Amino acid sequence: MTPSVPTASAASTDDDLLRLAIDVAREAGAFVVDARRSGVEVADRKSSPVDVVTQVDRDSEALIRARLRAARPLDGFFGEEGGRGASESGLTWVVDPIDGTVNFLYGIPHYAISIGVVAGEPDPQSWEAVAGVVLNPVTGELFTARRGGGAHLDGRPIRVADAVPLAEALVFTGFAYSAQTRAEQGVAIAQLLPRVRDLRRLGTASLDLCSVAAGRANAYFERTLSPWDHAAGALIAREAGAVVKGFGDRRPDREFLLAAHPEAVDELERLLVEVGA
Ligand code: IPD
Repeated sequence: MTPSVPTASAASTDDDLLRLAIDVAREAGAFVVDARRSGVEVADRKSSPVDVVTQVDRDSEALIRARLRAARPLDGFFGEEGGRGASESGLTWVVDPIDGTVNFLYGIPHYAISIGVVAGEPDPQSWEAVAGVVLNPVTGELFTARRGGGAHLDGRPIRVADAVPLAEALVFTGFAYSAQTRAEQGVAIAQLLPRVRDLRRLGTASLDLCSVAAGRANAYFERTLSPWDHAAGALIAREAGAVVKGFGDRRPDREFLLAAHPEAVDELERLLVEVGA
């Protein structure tokens, strides 16, 4: 039986929460794809000149927030584009209304709506991820998970790829928005590249995590992620059998996130530390 989650409103199962997240992600996805047909422009720059937001990111977040609020008024909200709402139920929705905004801006069909719901504070150091959805609205691929229920792609169970030697590992990563951090990452990448099968930088953290979950990548690591980048994707990767962690004993945080097969994760982490990734 599906365990209940703590809510002050009508009792909901994890499945109910997942179904709501799927419905809302699909509606936001349709909106975003439609909005892109009318053209997209940068509305503002955030942490650096290359960290951009479009009006569609903002409108997508507003739509998601409104739908979640209507369905579950006591839940909290924590969105990339600034939406904040305290939780009275113990649950908070952690949302990236368009993950992969730069891909979206350029019309690269690899971006996502990422919706996670967590119990506890909206802090990856302490939250318990309850359910998560990552939807690529262009391809229609829908990755889902709820705690203890496994991970699915379009309703079919997915698993991490079998562990391979590091030299044969396909490793996904991403780069920070800060030029200084990018310069450091470039140095580390130059040392890492000859030691693995290859590297990929596809530009959407939530889909990178889902790629590990679906066996399309052996591992993924990145620095400077925000909670909305990984709330849903990390649960999906874990439920598919991956370890998702920060440095050492830490949970994933802004400093570092690494996702990989349990038998491969320690060796890869040692290598990443060695090269300063
Ligand atoms: C970004 C993407 C990118 C990752 C960045 C994220 P955004 O999210 O996930 O792949 O490298 O760290 O910030 O800004 O497009 O929502």
